[in-house]
Amino acid sequence: MRPINPRVEAVPRSGIRVILDLASRPGVVHLEIGQPNFLTPAHIIDAADAAARAGHTGYTANAGLPELCDALSTTLASDNGVQAGVDQIVVTVGAMGALYAACLAVLEPGDQVLIPDPGYPNYHMAATLCGAETVRYPLLPEAGYQPDLDALAAAIGPQCKAIIVNSPSNPTGAVLSEASLRGVVDLAERHDLYVISDECYEKIVFDGRHISPAALAPGSDRFFTVSSVSKSYAMTGWRLGYVAAPAAMVPQLTKLQESIVGCAPVLSQHAALAALTGPQDAVREMCAAYRSRRDLAVELLQPHGLCNYRPGGAFYLLVDLPGEVDDTYDYAKRLLQERDVAVAPGETFGAGGAGRVRISTATSDDLLREGIGRLIEFAVATG
Ligand SMILES: Cc1ncc(COP(=O)(O)O)c(C=O)c1O
Repeated sequence: MRPINPRVEAVPRSGIRVILDLASRPGVVHLEIGQPNFLTPAHIIDAADAAARAGHTGYTANAGLPELCDALSTTLASDNGVQAGVDQIVVTVGAMGALYAACLAVLEPGDQVLIPDPGYPNYHMAATLCGAETVRYPLLPEAGYQPDLDALAAAIGPQCKAIIVNSPSNPTGAVLSEASLRGVVDLAERHDLYVISDECYEKIVFDGRHISPAALAPGSDRFFTVSSVSKSYAMTGWRLGYVAAPAAMVPQLTKLQESIVGCAPVLSQHAALAALTGPQDAVREMCAAYRSRRDLAVELLQPHGLCNYRPGGAFYLLVDLPGEVDDTYDYAKRLLQERDVAVAPGETFGAGGAGRVRISTATSDDLLREGIGRLIEFAVATG
């Protein structure tokens, strides 16, 4: 047999999924997966149901329903300060689809792309599939996981074509400050880099405020603003995301949609339209719940020296493990075997996750308390 594509073989699986696959037995407390434990709000489900019954069950335009692109253009302007016309928006299969399309649109074999360390594993996966090399720039734990702008500047070489930014962040929960984002945008302008900004936790902010990098450089054509309805509206399974891109890129991104998925699922597009244009109370309620769970997690972990910062958003927290932990995959597997708690191994997010595990607070208060209790017992006993 001829060999399979080595790029596909080279892509590592996400450690989150590795642990999730091992954890499918009753009694396990799941703190590994970033999946809201809320149901999609009823009015959104009703809109999808009504669309199906009205016969809207066929393909849509590759870039998405015009009325959804219109609503996204309006929301980006009102909520994010990002001016993107209807013709600059492409609706995708989740933010993952948007990130991958943006990477495919700009990255060639031999290019480098800067990604945060620690950062969401799919950035490395997407870039590797494009044949590009990832260069990780450090987020500083001692600065609440803001980027180290000097180290970032030093990492930019002649092959660098793009930078991926993520705020609020997975896995740290940090909300990047305006100073950090201005620093990133300045560097992108100085070195002529595309900026791919992953903002899928934008509505889950407790401290500070969400800033879209594209809003800091109006009129610039280097920004891909990526987001989705997955986390904000508890819609992970609907697989609906989008990208607002430079106008010249849109025909290329649309072609990518055509070649890979044709279009995002039509009923999910109708659901997303209802999500964006309907009442936002559920978003606020879910955000308040994540905030109180963030406080609970910090309150439980801090006295043991297992957490030295307070995430400003998203629903994640990096736990500092005591003692010398050489392999966080091994640690997560032992924790699962011995205490029935599933967490994400820090190293799946890059070297910056070494000696740490990530917990997700997207679960009930009781399960969160139980899971963290078991994690603390294990950390204290083995640390
Ligand atoms: C940082 C980040 N970006 C993108 C995604 C993908 O989101 P979606 O469900 O919209 O594809 C996730 C999902 O966990 C994520 O954490």
